[in-house]
Amino acid sequence: MESAQDWHSAKALLEWHIELGAVDAIGDAPVDRYALDPTPPKPAKAAPEGPSPVHAAKPPAAPRRDHVAVAKQIAAAARDLDALKAAITDFDGCELKRGARNTVIADGNPAARVMIIGEAPGRDEDIEGKPFVGRAGQLLDKMFAAIGMGRDAPLSKDAIYITNVMPWRPPSNRDPTPDEIAMMIPFLERHVQLVAPELLVLMGNTPCQAVLGRKGILRMRGNWDQGWGKPVMPMTHPAYLLRNPAAKREAWADLLEIQAKLREQA
Ligand code: URA
Repeated sequence: MESAQDWHSAKALLEWHIELGAVDAIGDAPVDRYALDPTPPKPAKAAPEGPSPVHAAKPPAAPRRDHVAVAKQIAAAARDLDALKAAITDFDGCELKRGARNTVIADGNPAARVMIIGEAPGRDEDIEGKPFVGRAGQLLDKMFAAIGMGRDAPLSKDAIYITNVMPWRPPSNRDPTPDEIAMMIPFLERHVQLVAPELLVLMGNTPCQAVLGRKGILRMRGNWDQGWGKPVMPMTHPAYLLRNPAAKREAWADLLEIQAKLREQA
């Protein structure tokens, strides 16, 4: 028969386990482990020498594909923007593609002097198949309109061209992983070569990681850098500006820097 002390210590132990985060019982019925046969189980029969028929029949595991190497090869082969768009759309190395409705590649004028690189499509972009069309995109349009530039500007000197590091929306808008970014870099670099803008604007950490190999946007913003042979201006992402309106003052300073650089280079 159980003593009162046993009941109390069992209850205390259970409470302690719950405190530690245990949420599941292991079995429906209690097991009296003292009543179990203490004889250790007999060792299993030694396996016959040589591979078992099952092992012998198993085919060798397929080597994992090196998606970055595949991406490099395909991207380098794209002779123009249409070929590059087709190559990105057909690329199957990135899991994000399976959850996306659209492959979002670019918008604006490919003859633009400025190429803007964002992070990845969000919900609105995934639905429409165009980059920066949601709230952050509307702010981006207003920001560039303030220095006389836009994605629909008829003259290439006033036009911007917009793309993202990732052409597919990550689930729940999470940040793309380093592996996902790495396999899209060859496409992005080829994209920059084919558009051949005078300068790049990197919106947020993901494009900084892709183009400059480092992040820390709040430190990097507003300072000219050099990436893929071009002047590069890192800026805080418009989605960040929507959440932190006080940072718009610095973003305005960055836009004026871009305008000054374009005038200098004209
Ligand atoms: N944020 C981005 O970085 N890109 C988009 O296209 C939309 C939101």
